[in-house]
Order: sequence, then structure tokens, then C-alpha cells
Amino acid sequence: MSPRPFHLGWFTNFAVDEWTKPFTGGGGDPWDGAFYVDMAKAMERACFDYIMLEDTLMISEAYGGTNEIYLKHNIMGPKADPSPMAALIGASTTNLGVVATFSTMAYPPFMLARLCSTLDSICKGRFGWNIVTTGEDLAAENFGMDKLPPRQERYDMADEYVELCKQLWGSWDPDAVVRDLDSGTYADASKVRPIHFEGKYFKSRGPLNCVPSPQVRPAFVQAGGSPRGRQFAAMTADSIIAPSMGVAGLKAYRDDVRARAAAGGRDPDEIKVLFVVAPILGESEEEAKAKAARIVDAPDYCEKALALVAAITDIDFSTFDLDAPLPHLTTNGEQGSLDAFQQSGSGKTLRQLCADQLARGLDGLIGTPDQVAERMGEVMAEVGGDGFLITRPFTANISRQYINDICEGLVPALQRRGLARTRYTPGATLRQMLREF
Ligand SMILES: Cc1cc2nc3c(=O)[nH]c(=O)nc-3n(C[C@H](O)[C@H](O)[C@H](O)COP(=O)(O)O)c2cc1C
Repeated sequence: MSPRPFHLGWFTNFAVDEWTKPFTGGGGDPWDGAFYVDMAKAMERACFDYIMLEDTLMISEAYGGTNEIYLKHNIMGPKADPSPMAALIGASTTNLGVVATFSTMAYPPFMLARLCSTLDSICKGRFGWNIVTTGEDLAAENFGMDKLPPRQERYDMADEYVELCKQLWGSWDPDAVVRDLDSGTYADASKVRPIHFEGKYFKSRGPLNCVPSPQVRPAFVQAGGSPRGRQFAAMTADSIIAPSMGVAGLKAYRDDVRARAAAGGRDPDEIKVLFVVAPILGESEEEAKAKAARIVDAPDYCEKALALVAAITDIDFSTFDLDAPLPHLTTNGEQGSLDAFQQSGSGKTLRQLCADQLARGLDGLIGTPDQVAERMGEVMAEVGGDGFLITRPFTANISRQYINDICEGLVPALQRRGLARTRYTPGATLRQMLREF
């Protein structure tokens, strides 16, 4: 039986590209967006399903109670707004899906619905919204709150938020725009209605003041990790993205969200679960291992790794002993990402946990393109999975060299095995693309 191809996405942010190493992003000044447009074009040549632009809304101070380490090493910031970048990528590509992250904490639902609709029109139906509820108190403080609401409430609010947005997207019938020259009518008023939404958290009159976009609603991407987050993802997402946590962990996660979807009346096959990986590639296995060692053996690797995990969990990891096992931790921030990191019960030291994150929690991803492609195929066969979300190795900045390794090394090796898409269906929307296999 020939293998089934799986989906590929790439998770990046609109942030600083590599500037500290011999092979850079091309100057370390990415703020005009040109670097990311080039990246998207490389991904499109490699037939990726989508580029996902991550976003958070603060400069962290979680590690050591100061922003020093974050600014020194550009960790989780500075980063620029993903929405103009998404528009730029959409206008510069033809087939690639473009996903941007917007927080339900930060945008009034009406603005979000309009923004997504506009981006989906600019992207000609290839836009997706990565729905996040935000996990950092410092971000909440930037929006007039003293701290985040508890997770349960954030997701209750997100449920209502998404429902309101769906109603706004539905406030125009698909055929409301008539552009009838005879009567001089642009839009048929009988097909555009207020929604008069009144929920526990949000209220909006409607209708939306922009036309329906090609997908009407964007594709939904989500990364719930806690039980409440998984439930939200299972009931909402077209594509779920999740950290890797060993093969058994991947299988358990995917089985869980699919079971939740089925229990809620959704067809689980409508949801593509993509696991985060950061393969490290070389022309030989030795070369790949040497590359990996250069990152993980750097004197500041653990500090950078822990600052990064601290930023998304609001836990100050500078207070723990690197050479002792980590106690089990919980957070009101990204619990799922914390669980993938802390590997509770493994007895590993904090230093080892940091090293395990290099290729993002899955072994066998450091080698030649053929070795890594083989391993990814095996893992998907075992997990029964839908695909992978590539990202850069832990603590590294994104470089043209890394993009090239993936798009011109790994992806062709996957394609030779029938494991990755080799062509796009012309005109397919992102949702259609995700449902092709
Ligand atoms: C691959 C991946 C990407 C994510 N991207 C973002 C992001 O861009 N912004 C954000 O605030 N949270 C992001 N998150 C966090 C998730 O939205 C979610 O909060 C997290 O997975 C923990 O799940 P929980 O909210 O159920 O605890 C991401 C998580 C993962 C695994």
C-alpha cells in the first residue's frame, strides 16, 4: 500500500531573523516583511499547506523578574503585528495558506471578524485564524486588566466570542452582493441583517460592514493543551497544532481530541492535528549532530530555553536547580506547552528537559533529509496522524539556511516517499486544502 501524504505547516513569528550566526536571515532587520515573504515563497515552492504567524502581546519579565534576558537575546520579542504581514504574504503567493494569531482577549469581536474577513479576501480564501486566549498576565496588563481571567473562563469567553464572530460572518448572505447595473444596486439589503447578539461577555448588533470573503469564515487553527483547551479546539478547529511529546504522547493527544470532536457531533476527520517539530538536517548524520550540538552545548542554551518556557507559562524557571529533577508544575498560562516541556514523572533534570526541547520533543529528527523523512513517516504511521508543523530549533533564530534545509532538503525527501504534497489544487481555499487528504 502506498503511504498517505500528510499535511505540512510552519510556525513562525514576525520577529528577528538570525543575526548571531555565520548564516543569517540576510541582515537581521526583518521589519519590512521582505524576509517573511521570501520564506512564504520558499514554502509555496515546497507545497506547504500553511504558514502560521504566532503572536503574543508583551515583552516578558517572567525569567528572573526582568526583561533583560528577553531583550538581550530577542526571546519572544520584539515581534511585529502579524496582520499586515499576513496580507503581504497573501498578496505575494498564490496557493499557500496564511494563518495569523489573534487573541480573543485583545480584539473586540467585531474588529476581529472584520479583520479576518478582509484578510481572507486579500488571501483569496487562503486565510486562517489561530485562535488564542492569551496566557500571560503581562499581556493582560497591556489591555487594562490587572491579570488574566482563569483558563476556564478564558475559554468560556472564547466559545461565546467565536459564536458571535460566526454570526457576524453570517450576517451577509453569500449572494448579497448583486452589482446589478440595471437597477444600480451593489448589495441587496434584504440579504444583510443585524444579528443583535447578546451573550454573557459580549454584545454586538451587526451586520458586519464588509462583504463575505471567499471562505465566509476563515479556517480555524487552535492549540488547546489543557482539558478545557482541548475541548475548545476539538469543537472549533479545522487544524489543531500541538507540541510534540514522544510518539505515545502524540497518539494519546490526537486520539483525545478526535474523541472529543466525535462526542460533540463533529466528524474527527475534519480536524487536521499537526505536531510541532524542528528537524536538524545535514548532508551526513555527523554534520546534523554537530549542528545540534552547537546549539545545545552553547553556554547560554539552558538560560535561553528556560526564559522561553517562562514567557509562555509565567513561571520563573531561574529559581530551579538545573541539575535536579523539576517538581510538577501548573500554570494559568500555557498548561499544554508546560506539560510537553516538563515530562512529569520522567525524573529528568531540568538541563535534560531543556536539551529534549531542541528538536521539540520528538527523537530521530536530527540527521540527513532521508533519515528524518523516514522517521517522520514512521511516526505518522504509528500515530495515525495528519502532519507536522515545522518550526526552528529551540532558542535558534530563523535563518535562510534553515528554511532552505527544510524546503529543499527535507520536503523533497518526504515527497519522494509519497509523504508530502507535490502539487496544489488550483484555487483551493485553505479549508479545502486541509480536507484534501
Ligand atoms: C504550536 C503552538 C503555537 C501557539 N501559538 C500561540 C500564539 O501564537 N499565541 C498565544 O498566545 N498562544 C499560542 N499558543 C498557546 C495555545 O494557544 C494554548 O494556550 C496552549 O497550547 C496551552 O493550552 P491551554 O490554553 O489549553 O493551556 C500556541 C501553542 C502551540 C502548541
